[in-house]
Amino acid sequence: MIVAGSESQVLAARVARETGRELARVEYERFPDGERLVRVPGVEGEEVAVVASTPTDASYVELLQILDACADASRIDLFVPYMGYSRQDKQFGDGEAVSARALASAVPPVESVTTVNLHEDDVLDWFDAETADLDAAPLLADSLDVASPLVVAPDESAFPLAETVADRLGGDADYLVKERVSGDEVRIETRELGAESRDVVLVDDMVATGGTMSEAIEVLGGNGARSVRVACVHPVLARNAVLRLYSAGVERVVATDTLETAVSDASVASLIARHL
Ligand code: R5P
Repeated sequence: MIVAGSESQVLAARVARETGRELARVEYERFPDGERLVRVPGVEGEEVAVVASTPTDASYVELLQILDACADASRIDLFVPYMGYSRQDKQFGDGEAVSARALASAVPPVESVTTVNLHEDDVLDWFDAETADLDAAPLLADSLDVASPLVVAPDESAFPLAETVADRLGGDADYLVKERVSGDEVRIETRELGAESRDVVLVDDMVATGGTMSEAIEVLGGNGARSVRVACVHPVLARNAVLRLYSAGVERVVATDTLETAVSDASVASLIARHL
């Protein structure tokens, strides 16, 4: 049985269709004081796959409630396509909480935990389960309407994603050098990339405030790129991120449905279904 978190209803329905499994009619309710109540009918004795991204604090609480409601299932496999707080995977400053560890440790033991392009896959070690991280980069490539592009990562850590997309589209891959100035501002070093008159695809694991990508779009425009598309696995798209990308001159934004947004054109349902 496929059990959806409220942030992943479309994705879970797609997984149910691809696998031919039943989709549970989960009910998400709220008490007058704002506290949540979750009801998952019909899971007793069933093998359950929970599909629940956790972009907000409330969705984390809801996930814990879903897992508790599934306590009488015969088996639970948990899919967290987008795991919030995964970027706080260590202490960056004295006294800081390692948020990813705190949240992973709150998840009760389940058979397996699977994520998609997790920011740092070390985070998986904190779950008490068999774990896997799936790669959605080929799906992003398949959703792009461009041939032989220059595929550019905004920093070196996203270069493997850029290489996968470039291989699939018959293009070349390169990366920029990024320095974070604040939560929503980055500085990107201008480098000679051979972008002149090329169609460029910028690839990253996520777009949050759009600071990284809008800066990179401007750098590539300055390098004479013919067009710039943005592809990311997780469209967090906080505040005015979409506007920042389009005002910087992006031609198209493509993302997956690990977060269900207006630009989630590529679905990770087939990845999850195959893994299941
Ligand atoms: C950071 O290392 C990530 O890979 C992304 O580059 C970052 O989270 C994007 O954030 P923003 O859109 O706020 O610049």
